[in-house]
Amino acid sequence: MMEFFDFVVVGGGITGLSAAARLQAAGSVLLVTKEALAESNTSYAQGGIAVAMGGAEDVRLHLEDTLVAGDGLVDRAAATLLVEAGPPRVEELLGIGTEFDRDVEGQFERTREGAHSLSRILHAKGDATGREIARSLLEHVRTLSSVKLREWTTTVDLITRNGRIAGVTLLAPGATLTQVSAGTVLLASGGAGQIYSDTTNPAVATGDGIAMAYRAGAPLEDMEFYQFHPTAFAMQGAPRFLLSEALRGEGALLRNARGERFMPGVHPQAELAPRDVVARAITRESLAGPVYLDMRHVRQDLAVRFPGISAFLESFGLRLNRDLIPVRPAAHYLMGGIKTDLHGRTVLPGLYAAGEAACTGVHGANRLASNSLLEGLVFGVEAAQAMIQERCAALDLTEPEAAQPPDRSTLEDAAAIEAWIQQLRDLMWRDAGLLRSAQGLGRARATLVQMAETMPRGLTRRAIEARNLHTLATVMVASALGREESRGAHFRLDFPGRWEGPLHSVITYGELRFEV
Ligand code: SIN
Repeated sequence: MMEFFDFVVVGGGITGLSAAARLQAAGSVLLVTKEALAESNTSYAQGGIAVAMGGAEDVRLHLEDTLVAGDGLVDRAAATLLVEAGPPRVEELLGIGTEFDRDVEGQFERTREGAHSLSRILHAKGDATGREIARSLLEHVRTLSSVKLREWTTTVDLITRNGRIAGVTLLAPGATLTQVSAGTVLLASGGAGQIYSDTTNPAVATGDGIAMAYRAGAPLEDMEFYQFHPTAFAMQGAPRFLLSEALRGEGALLRNARGERFMPGVHPQAELAPRDVVARAITRESLAGPVYLDMRHVRQDLAVRFPGISAFLESFGLRLNRDLIPVRPAAHYLMGGIKTDLHGRTVLPGLYAAGEAACTGVHGANRLASNSLLEGLVFGVEAAQAMIQERCAALDLTEPEAAQPPDRSTLEDAAAIEAWIQQLRDLMWRDAGLLRSAQGLGRARATLVQMAETMPRGLTRRAIEARNLHTLATVMVASALGREESRGAHFRLDFPGRWEGPLHSVITYGELRFEV
């Protein structure tokens, strides 16, 4: 049976929840998540949310830091909106009960991370900032009667009718397919860390929204820019758990296998250099042996300041104040995504995107640390406001055409799908990771073409995710091959120099072009 909503939001992280909270006053909202609502990249964000709460000079410096970290590719208007709208959006979070850490006088505690010129990052419960923001937003959204929450539901595809995105096809538990008609659809479905074998991202981060927008004809922008977080836990057999950049903000040093610091020789900001610089330096040092975070000299009680990280390390017999902690980079954040304007509008009428799924150009070639939660908050609300405006002008909704019947003939064996996905993830890590070349990228492209022949075709969540990962891997490799320069997170061993002018890559239906 067809369901009708004024707004459909795909994704339950900070972007989707903030958008839903704003949309609810203007109509009915359906918010869809693939797993339980709390399971998103937002909940895993540790270090904090970068926000300039100290007035005009603070805002100016935040803009400056964002532009510098983005290595010449940041869209200034997007970054200006981010830093200027950040403080009022964070005030709204405080209004719904988000509790950031404060000192004994009740002032916010602020930390620092890479490429920030001052300490401006708010955090919560030490290193559980994302979880606290998700908690407060969720509690708030649950009180809103016009928002319907649908968990454990995979969004299969967008429905197009008369040249307009008119709804979504959903796969509910028990393999039930349903169609939902929507005035407008917001993709707030996050990033795609699962495209790499080594990632800090949870299992849900398979880039579904980006892939379905691409299938529907939306251009994707700057897809070659994938950020690798410098310090994921690097013990054999252990998960690539994020070891927040805030550790370095609180004094952690990086040491190589000989026990020497190496960052002072690489960048004037040493351990607090931009993330792409630190990640590459660690990768190079790792060729000679393990690299460690060292906080043994730090006097504060780190189990109190970083309770989540400390509990994780404790389960491996390690303590921040006592031990060297092995680290190496892992895939963390996609700077590229569905091309949008500053208000989440894509080129497809009725389709909006915001947060990590979108590309406004706000991060350029390398995102400034802790700007991602702020991005979700600011651009989620911007998109919601634009959707409300559009809805006023376009209320003419009728039933979308029936979706194609699902192909249930090839429900592959689950183990075979996992093996296929793992092959793709290993391939991307090896040939389209931190250090790239035409040789590796060419190999990745050829292997992806071969893998298309054995692509899982069934209508299960994993088969759908496998196809989405393949779509995005293909786009990322094509974009990375096309960008014959090194900039920000995209480093070509065969093209270490940079193009004179900054150009964005844009890919639509396999056609790649570069534009200003
Ligand atoms: C971290 O805590 O290091 C992650 C913050 C971010 O990705 O910006």
